[in-house]
Amino acid sequence: MSDNSFGTLFRVTTWGESHGPAIGCVIDGCPPGVLLRTEDIQARLDRRRPGTSRFVTQRKEADQVRILSGVFEDDRTGGPRTTGTPISLMIENTDQRSRDYDDIRDTYRPGHADYAYDAKYGLRDYRGGGRSSARETACRVAAGAVAERVLDALYGGAVRIYAGLVAMGPHKVDPARVDWETVSENPFFSPDPVAAVEWEGVLDGARKSGDSLGALIEVRATGVPAGLGAPVYGKLDSDLAAALMSINAAKAVEIGDGLAAAMITGTGNADEMREGKGGPTFLANHAGGVMGGISTGQDLVARVAIKPTSSILSPRRSVTADGVETEVVTKGRHDPCVGIRGVPVAEAMMACVLADQALRHRGQTGRLGPAG
Ligand SMILES: Cc1cc2nc3c(=O)[nH]c(=O)nc-3n(C[C@H](O)[C@H](O)[C@H](O)COP(=O)(O)O)c2cc1C
Repeated sequence: MSDNSFGTLFRVTTWGESHGPAIGCVIDGCPPGVLLRTEDIQARLDRRRPGTSRFVTQRKEADQVRILSGVFEDDRTGGPRTTGTPISLMIENTDQRSRDYDDIRDTYRPGHADYAYDAKYGLRDYRGGGRSSARETACRVAAGAVAERVLDALYGGAVRIYAGLVAMGPHKVDPARVDWETVSENPFFSPDPVAAVEWEGVLDGARKSGDSLGALIEVRATGVPAGLGAPVYGKLDSDLAAALMSINAAKAVEIGDGLAAAMITGTGNADEMREGKGGPTFLANHAGGVMGGISTGQDLVARVAIKPTSSILSPRRSVTADGVETEVVTKGRHDPCVGIRGVPVAEAMMACVLADQALRHRGQTGRLGPAG
C-alpha cells in the first residue's frame, strides 16, 4: 500500500505532519541532467507561504526548502543538476502552536477530517490536523517546482502553467476584465484586478463575522504538445482530475466546459477544426485541451472548487469522541478562504501530472510530442 505517492514515472511521495519537526517529499524518476536550484523551488513555496497578507492565515512558517539528495554540482555541470536518483526535499516546521488545538483533542470539527480519521485509524494527531493539514500541500508545491524544471528541460520552456481564483464564494470574476498577467499583483491570485479589490471587503466581512468562504480555482497550461495522455486508464484528464481532487478541501473538478457541457447541444459543444499552417487548428476549446484522454495541443483548462474553511470562530454543533453533544468554536490561525493558497497547489499538481505524462509518452512512443 502506498497511498502517499502519486505519478507513474515522475513519482512523488510526501511525508510529515504539520506539528512534527519537518515535512517533505521524495521524487523518484526525475530524469538526470535537469537544472534544479533551491531558489526555483523556494520561489514557488513563497507563493503558497502563510502570512503574506491579511487574507490568509497569520501562521509564520518560513517554508525554507532544503534539497537533501538527487542533485549534484561541480565545475562541469553548469549549475546544480539532477542525477536521476531520488530527490529528497525537506521543509522544517517552525511555527506550531499545538495548544491552539487542545479544544479539538476529543471533539470533532464539523467539516474537517477529525471524525473520519478517528473512524479509520482510532488514533489521531489532532495538533494542526496532523496529516490532514494542508501543510502537506507545501510538499506538492516543492515537487511541482521540480516538475516545471523537467518540463522546461523536455520542451525548452514552451509549457507554461498558471492559475488564479475565478470566484470567491458567489463573487465571480468578470470574463471581460480577466488578465492572467495580473494574478500575482493582488493577494487573491485573481486574474480580475477589479474583482480583487471588491473581494477585500467581502473576505474581511466573512472573517469578522467568524465565517469563511469557498472559492473556484482555474488552472491552465499552454504550450502542451498534442499526444500526452494514454487511454484508457491513464487519461490525461482523469490523472489531472485525480490530482486536483486530492487537494485538501477540493469538492469538484471540471475540465474544459465541465458541468456546463452537460447542458448544451452537440453543435454548440463541437470544437470545430480547420487546416492551419502546421496542421489542424481548433475554432473553440470546449474540451479543455483533451480528447479521448489525450492532449490536443490546445490550452489545458481545469477548474477546482474549494470549499470554505471548516475551522471557524462561529459555534457549530458537534459531538465528542465519547458521544457527548457539544459545540465547537475553532480558534487558532486559519485561512478565511483556503482557495487562495490553493492556487499555487493547483499549479503544482498540473505540473506534476504533465511531467509524468510527458515521460510516459516518451517511454511508449520515443517522442515528446505528436506523431508525424
Ligand atoms: C492551502 C490550503 C490551506 C488550508 N488551510 C486550512 C486551515 O487553515 N484551516 C482549516 O480548517 N482547513 C484548511 N484547509 C482545508 C483542510 O486541510 C481540509 O478541509 C481538511 O483536510 C479536510 O479535508 P477535505 O476538506 O478535503 O474533506 C486548507 C486547504 C488548503 C488547500
